[in-house]
Amino acid sequence: MNELRHLMSPLDLSVEELNALMDTAEKIRSDPERYAHVCDGKILATCFYEPSTRTRLSFESAMLHMGGRTMGFASADSSSAAKGESVADTIRIISCFADICAMRHPKEGAPMVAAAHSTIPVINAGDGGHQHPTQTLTDLMTIRSLKGTLSGMTVGLCGDLKFGRTVHSLIQALLRYENVRFVMISPEELKLPGYIIEELKTKPNAGFAEITKLEEAMPMLDILYMTRVQRERFFNEEDYVRLKDFYILDKKKMRLAKEDMIVLHPLPRVNEIAVEVDQDPRAKYFEQVKYGMYIRMALILMLLRIEI
Ligand code: CP
Repeated sequence: MNELRHLMSPLDLSVEELNALMDTAEKIRSDPERYAHVCDGKILATCFYEPSTRTRLSFESAMLHMGGRTMGFASADSSSAAKGESVADTIRIISCFADICAMRHPKEGAPMVAAAHSTIPVINAGDGGHQHPTQTLTDLMTIRSLKGTLSGMTVGLCGDLKFGRTVHSLIQALLRYENVRFVMISPEELKLPGYIIEELKTKPNAGFAEITKLEEAMPMLDILYMTRVQRERFFNEEDYVRLKDFYILDKKKMRLAKEDMIVLHPLPRVNEIAVEVDQDPRAKYFEQVKYGMYIRMALILMLLRIEI
């Protein structure tokens, strides 16, 4: 019998599996018709206890594009969580109705609890300030497609590096490729958590620097990964208001960057990228969203063990 697999962190996948997923996603992108019925009869459940536009809808779009169907809830309030049902009980129920489940939860570790009680594959679609592995798959595929490689890059990560779960997952994934250098750009209060810094220190192949001024970093970057300040994770509104506009990427700052630097952002954007930057050919954050659907299609196929 095939062992049940979940995705909680990008580290659950070997580099070979990551590369194979991106290869499959590229094949789907170039020939979507071939995959239009590969999930006929399958059901994806999206259990979202926290708001989402991209992740939930791109999972649903991924399944619909492969002939499957979707069901789920978009907020804790519209599920029996509002009556006090546990995540463990909820996934036991979902396992009776669906073949695979994508779960987002404000509490770190909640999707792992679900996985421990599930009889279907569970995908972590973001857990608190911890991890967001399918955003990382999206980011890796975008970088590989647009830059041709995941090695030898200088990557600037800017904004809320403390609470930004997409940043934590992306660093861990990129650390497995050769010669990646990181420039962490954040205010003092929003620096990377210590456990990620410790991981960085153990990798002789990776270099990193922590700085405060975005302008200083711009000329050396191959990739600039902007993030919003995560209002929902702050303990008080005063701190959020003080820090929310610490970085605003605008045309003037873009003039400092290389001609072939690309700007990524997991989105949603608030103020940290001025709308005027959207017209710059190096702004790739809307293109990035489309890669997210293809890589989620590849992931669903892998976890459902559907081979084409
Ligand atoms: N990038 C991302 O997770 O977006 P949503 O919160 O809209 O899903």
